[in-house]
Amino acid sequence: MNLYDVYSLFDITPVKGKGSYIYDFKGREYLDFYGGHAVISIGHSHPHYVHKISAQLQELGFYSNSVINPLQQVLAGLLEITSGLKGYELFLINSGAEANENALKLASFYNNRTKVLALENCFHGRTSAAINVTNTASKHQAPINHGIDVTYVHFEDEKKMIDEIRSHQYAAIIIEVIQGVGGLDMISADLLDKIQIECEKSKTILIMDEIQCGYGRSGNFFAFQESSIRPDIITMAKGMGNGFPIGGILINARKMPPVKSQLGTTFGGNHLACAAGIAVLEVMQMEDLVENARAMGNRIKQLLHGLPLISKIKGQGLMLGAELEINAKIVREKLIYDHHVFTGSSHNPKIIRILPPLNITDKEVDIFVNKLETTLRSIS
Ligand SMILES: Cc1ncc(COP(=O)(O)O)c(C=O)c1O
Repeated sequence: MNLYDVYSLFDITPVKGKGSYIYDFKGREYLDFYGGHAVISIGHSHPHYVHKISAQLQELGFYSNSVINPLQQVLAGLLEITSGLKGYELFLINSGAEANENALKLASFYNNRTKVLALENCFHGRTSAAINVTNTASKHQAPINHGIDVTYVHFEDEKKMIDEIRSHQYAAIIIEVIQGVGGLDMISADLLDKIQIECEKSKTILIMDEIQCGYGRSGNFFAFQESSIRPDIITMAKGMGNGFPIGGILINARKMPPVKSQLGTTFGGNHLACAAGIAVLEVMQMEDLVENARAMGNRIKQLLHGLPLISKIKGQGLMLGAELEINAKIVREKLIYDHHVFTGSSHNPKIIRILPPLNITDKEVDIFVNKLETTLRSIS
């Protein structure tokens, strides 16, 4: 049987990972500054993570959401402590798109509206509502995905954004504080504060999509924590499980109290997924990874300034984009095939996306910057 051929693949076959490195079947070492698409938060095969998942598997890998699973409560408690957020309730699912799908549904349940406000260049996933409110993937939208009336606003167009919210038409506004796929543009903390005020007045649900920029990657636990807002819903996935499929939504349950069977999932929040999620948060605390992401991000930014062909550095923490004067494809290919360094791309073809594990050290930053500099000099 053939695999359904929807991915453009690099000709590399990783079989092992350790820390910030992955290894192919010939034992060749690759520095991972892509983090498997912003997923690897605590590093590949972290011993605590391996131990926790293996131990859980010996006990109980899965049972459905029809029984009490105390691990879900442990995860929720750790999340509250690590994020510093109080007054939210946790619903667990399996992926980012599913998180946004459920968030949009809850918003519509709350105010009975169907329109959504989103940002130009946003990406929110590939399931029906999520892809419908995504602005960077029109070719991935099938006719069946066009059910929602969406308005897209530029991330700096304060007037339009506020005017639209004031129209009282929208079920929700959905925002990535740092756009991932879109190209690392960031909405300002000041504008977020204003949006929150207008959302409150108009009963519009404020959804922060923290699927990529959350879980420590921005140098705050959640990227919106640079502002003083309290979103109604926060969506999470990627770094939450360090590769184990798990997603979650944090809900202001005073505003949107739970209704039995309104949301549900077979696999979401299963025992093994919770063990992975708990291990990630424990390591984040033990190794102070949010602070490390901030410090290493600042160091990368400093070192990249002044390198040839780099025109701008965008983003924050370990979610950075180096914007080049040329198309980034050739640079990324040289990095991966000649220097064995993984990086990411974005909707903006000139951007190299930098998304390493949150526990990288000065040494790995220096290796990355040296290899990038050598590559850029060989082209310029
Ligand atoms: C900001 C954002 N939201 C949602 C998603 C969708 O997540 P998933 O691929 O887990 O469905 C992504 C994936 O890249 C993302 O970056």
